[in-house]
Amino acid sequence: MKTIIEPFRIKVVEPIGKTTLEQRRELLAEAAWNPFRLHADHILIDLLTDSGTGAMSSEQWAGIMRGDETYAGARSYWRFKAAVQDIFGHEEVIPTHQGRAAENLICSAIVKAGQIVPGNTHFDTTRANIEMSGARALDIPIPEARDPESLHPFKGNIDLLRLEALLEEEGAANVPFVLITITNNSGGGQPVSMENVRGARAVCDRFGVPLMLDAARFAENAMFIKLREEGFADRTPKSIAQELFSLVDGAMMSMKKDAFGNNGGVITLRSPEVAAEVRRLLILTEGFPTYGGLAGRDLDALAIGVQEILDEDYLEYRLASTRYVEERLDAAGIPVMKPCGGHAVYVDGRGFCSHLPNEQLPGWSLSVALYEHAGIRTCEIGNVMFGRKENDGSWTWPALDLVRLAIPRRVYTQSHMDYVIEALIELFAKREEIPGLRFTDRPAVLPHFTARFEPVPVEVNA
Ligand code: F0G
Repeated sequence: MKTIIEPFRIKVVEPIGKTTLEQRRELLAEAAWNPFRLHADHILIDLLTDSGTGAMSSEQWAGIMRGDETYAGARSYWRFKAAVQDIFGHEEVIPTHQGRAAENLICSAIVKAGQIVPGNTHFDTTRANIEMSGARALDIPIPEARDPESLHPFKGNIDLLRLEALLEEEGAANVPFVLITITNNSGGGQPVSMENVRGARAVCDRFGVPLMLDAARFAENAMFIKLREEGFADRTPKSIAQELFSLVDGAMMSMKKDAFGNNGGVITLRSPEVAAEVRRLLILTEGFPTYGGLAGRDLDALAIGVQEILDEDYLEYRLASTRYVEERLDAAGIPVMKPCGGHAVYVDGRGFCSHLPNEQLPGWSLSVALYEHAGIRTCEIGNVMFGRKENDGSWTWPALDLVRLAIPRRVYTQSHMDYVIEALIELFAKREEIPGLRFTDRPAVLPHFTARFEPVPVEVNA
């Protein structure tokens, strides 16, 4: 059989928000054309993020019942530690309430002002936490990562030559660690090869610098290695993941992604000294070291999820279902980022809305138009998120203006995705009618969450 099916059946269902076109027009005006301001009742298909939005399994729900809420030394913690250690292999396992809390703790513990933290591409919260420590977050992906047309199978790789040159120049004292994000979310959900992590390990060893992973989507990355890297076809995703973690000194993970968690995070470390410092800070902000801001029941659900995600049938279906969307959009001539990543499909906003200048926010306008047309919510990663207003009033725009269709895990069926594809194809046919938008209120920090917009009158367009 060629058809790859969802390797699960549905036990609990949840209604989704049906609205009319008229209602959506009103709702958008009320939300000041910012999809982050919409109410969940009014969203039919929500592709805003794959973070914390997954469906838990019957085993995870059973784990929730087993959860032990003992303040210190809960049974849930020992089950969590064993499940994480089995994959990550590091001696120290420290739960946190989500990924950015893990980043904050690591940065507070070991990053000093003036240092540099190089990586393939840091996620925004990681970058923000590094910068909060007074250090510089430096992205050095391979050159192919910046070329939307390149079909490189591991476009998430870090540039080893630049890494070596940087460590040569800066020395170990100025680089607290190197961070590789698997998969590279900000670079389009692209995977990193085992060879690349091995190479980074060798470079870090030469200079005595620790190597860490941001492992939010480690299982998807392991499956990409199995499918694309020579010598891994017969290995299980779990053994590939174990080998990846064996190459590094520690990891931070948002367990809202590849642990099927609705909340949760973890830090794993080899060094007991660094772990002791992290735990000291953790007690101030997250809670006791055996629960780290989570309920015991959350720890049990995560312990089960982090193992369940490595099921090969699930990962085969996961990557195939993302690719399914990407291939159909591509075949219809819609400009998408290639090759397809693991958790999301990225549409090129400037290519789709080529009639709109950067000032009229093509990607954002597309995401608003897609909601208006079909009730689908997506997330712009482009001009609104990263555009910068200079002192002279002019704008600097990012290299890419993308709309991310992030696919929650085990939540939507193929017919939901067929609906998304059809909606985008219909919209593409009348793309020139998509009105541009402009800011009416733009907060200086993380503007996308709360900014307000208005449509640009058509005569201005002409
Ligand atoms: N690292 C990566 C690679 C991420 O994608 C995220 C979150 C984090 C760290 C932070 O984790 O949200 O648990 O605090 N990404 C989400 C997204 C928000 O939509 O891509 P968190």
